[in-house]
Amino acid sequence: MVLLHPAHAQRTEMVEMKKVRLTFTLDKDGVPFYQVAFDGKPVLLSSRLGFVLSEDSVFYKGFQWKGVERRLVDTVWQPVWGETKDIRDHYEQLIVHLEKTGGGGAAAMGSLPGRQLDIIFRVFEDGVGFRYEFPLQPGLKYFIVSDELTEFHLAGDHKTFWIPGDYDTNEYPYTTSKLSEIDNKDLVKKSTDIAVRVAPDEYAVQTPLMMKSAEGLYINIHEAALVNYPAMQLHVDRGSFTLTSRLVPDAVGNKAYLHAPFPTPWRTIIISDKAADVLASKMILNLNEPSKIGNTGWIHPMKFVGVWWEMQTGKSTWSYSDFSDSTGAAGGLIPNGRHGANTANVKRYIDFAAKNHIGGVLVEGWNTGWEDWFGNWKENVFDFVTPYPDFDVKEIMGYAASKGVHMIMHNETSGSATNYERQMDTAFRYMNRWGYTSVKTGYVGRIIPRGEHHDGQWMVNHYVRVAQKAAWYHVMLDAHEPVRPTGLQRTYPNWLACEAARGNEYNAFSNGNAPEHETILPFTRLMGGPMDYTPGIFRLKGYSDVPGRQVHTTLAKQLALYVTLYSPLQMAADLPENYEAHGDAFQFIKDVPVDWDDTRILEAEPGDYLTIARKEKGTNNWYLGAITGGHSRTTTLSLSFLDKGRKYQATIYKDGESAHWKNNPEAYTIEKRMVDSQTQLTVQLAEGGGAAVSITVF
Ligand code: NOJ
Ligand code: CA
Repeated sequence: MVLLHPAHAQRTEMVEMKKVRLTFTLDKDGVPFYQVAFDGKPVLLSSRLGFVLSEDSVFYKGFQWKGVERRLVDTVWQPVWGETKDIRDHYEQLIVHLEKTGGGGAAAMGSLPGRQLDIIFRVFEDGVGFRYEFPLQPGLKYFIVSDELTEFHLAGDHKTFWIPGDYDTNEYPYTTSKLSEIDNKDLVKKSTDIAVRVAPDEYAVQTPLMMKSAEGLYINIHEAALVNYPAMQLHVDRGSFTLTSRLVPDAVGNKAYLHAPFPTPWRTIIISDKAADVLASKMILNLNEPSKIGNTGWIHPMKFVGVWWEMQTGKSTWSYSDFSDSTGAAGGLIPNGRHGANTANVKRYIDFAAKNHIGGVLVEGWNTGWEDWFGNWKENVFDFVTPYPDFDVKEIMGYAASKGVHMIMHNETSGSATNYERQMDTAFRYMNRWGYTSVKTGYVGRIIPRGEHHDGQWMVNHYVRVAQKAAWYHVMLDAHEPVRPTGLQRTYPNWLACEAARGNEYNAFSNGNAPEHETILPFTRLMGGPMDYTPGIFRLKGYSDVPGRQVHTTLAKQLALYVTLYSPLQMAADLPENYEAHGDAFQFIKDVPVDWDDTRILEAEPGDYLTIARKEKGTNNWYLGAITGGHSRTTTLSLSFLDKGRKYQATIYKDGESAHWKNNPEAYTIEKRMVDSQTQLTVQLAEGGGAAVSITVF
């Protein structure tokens, strides 16, 4: 629809989908702007669009209107794995074609061809996605983005859940504050538990950024399909509540090297008056390309245990020796006697996995190089194929195969992506040869190529190359310390999970995660994709020699996280002996699925509480997880999502009466009762507590 536009506006277009309204304007100076409203209320006030290119420093003004295209799409597709069986993709698309005449003196003489820019908007029922596209054109071929100027001009001083805009990490704790109060300087400075921190703008934050307005509107800003482009961080203007795109720079300060035709990642704005709708949104997945992997039969979600938490808590070591120069007369490393990845110990985990129907076993510290793997900005750290002398790969892989257990390879790069790129084929051939079906990668440390950042264009491309290479070798991928995900798991369904946030591991080696942390993650980091959070810690205190160190949840909440923190790859992170000490509670981890036909967000409030019910893939069984932040809570849940007339048995794992994350985290009770679709289930959650319920057909 073409509107009567204000006198100064050159042109205005509007798209509406239910409560969401997008307005695009090209003003009299040829500057593109957009606005977003929800249910008649402004969400984004007039916000600028455009770029500074090294070829054209004002690629944000002087545009002329060339026309629009509109299209309505309403389809349903099926993910290879996921939270629901079917995903509806329903939007109206508006493509705006803009052009500017050639710049400089040559243009005056009319000899330079014009430059074109398309802006593609997709308006969904739950928000707006838009991307820029540089079409194939004679006037712009190879070019460099100096800055992207995209703005999100918020209508108020919203409550915001944020972490610092850091070029190298997403592993910060969340701060909840008003937009006008955002300042990351102190937090960055004191976060010495994070290996690499580069946050030059104290007013910049990461996406996904979650906000709540005073009127109760929930707004989430992120991006989708981040490929061949740096991550977008947001600079906050604390006076006007305007967020401006800040792209992570490369080693020489440029942002992106592009070659037209090129579409940028989508910028996403998810909006609802219900927090649950934000979590249920499929917009980011919908804005990604369908799977590029034809045969996906080899991709299978699973749970896993690992020779891992024992290293994180100091019980054993990744390294074989304590020092790289600690060698004996024959030149070999002198063992420290505490190496975790030894054959006997690995077999113990394989036995535990087999006995409890846990699909996989991860082993870290199996390959040489861990004596001085970190902090030296070394080019060549690991070769990914040389085991320590006490890790008998042949025996281990044969043993795992005989027990039907999948082994998960560990490739820590220490940030030396160049080294990994050189070794990658060799590493994946090694996995194929020995039968590893998955790999966990890691990027702890300053990046090589030196000067690059974890979230810059070069590394964004690296992570995708690893996913593609893994797919070629039929290996599933779990990346630690990559750029935060943007829905690419739709395109590369072998890329099952990422860390890219502050995981449970921070409870092992630092002061850990606050009780509200896991109620914020689904609204922030997980909006882009599944997280390998490593839940399931049962021994919540006393696992570390450091006084005061503990996990800031109850045991029942650790169970609930298997439902509330979605991942097709879920670790049962604690030690086998700690699970054996609580076999009754461990039953929930054994039973809980990792792939789902349906998901219902029953209640949600970021920073406060979250309750989700999910239906197991291919069955009629449901699993429910309820968590709370720092406050205790009583909630009554309607089980009306169950099939009418069907009887189910519910097993309820809940906080004991005296449970409290701080003083009594391991108190829980387990209760069984019959339920049906009429049942109202009341559960009490302790401070930092939770409840997990399996509801199986009787
Ligand atoms: C950090 C990862 O998040 C963790 O899971 C891993 O154990 C260490 N790096 C060592 O690779
Ligand atoms: Ca990490």
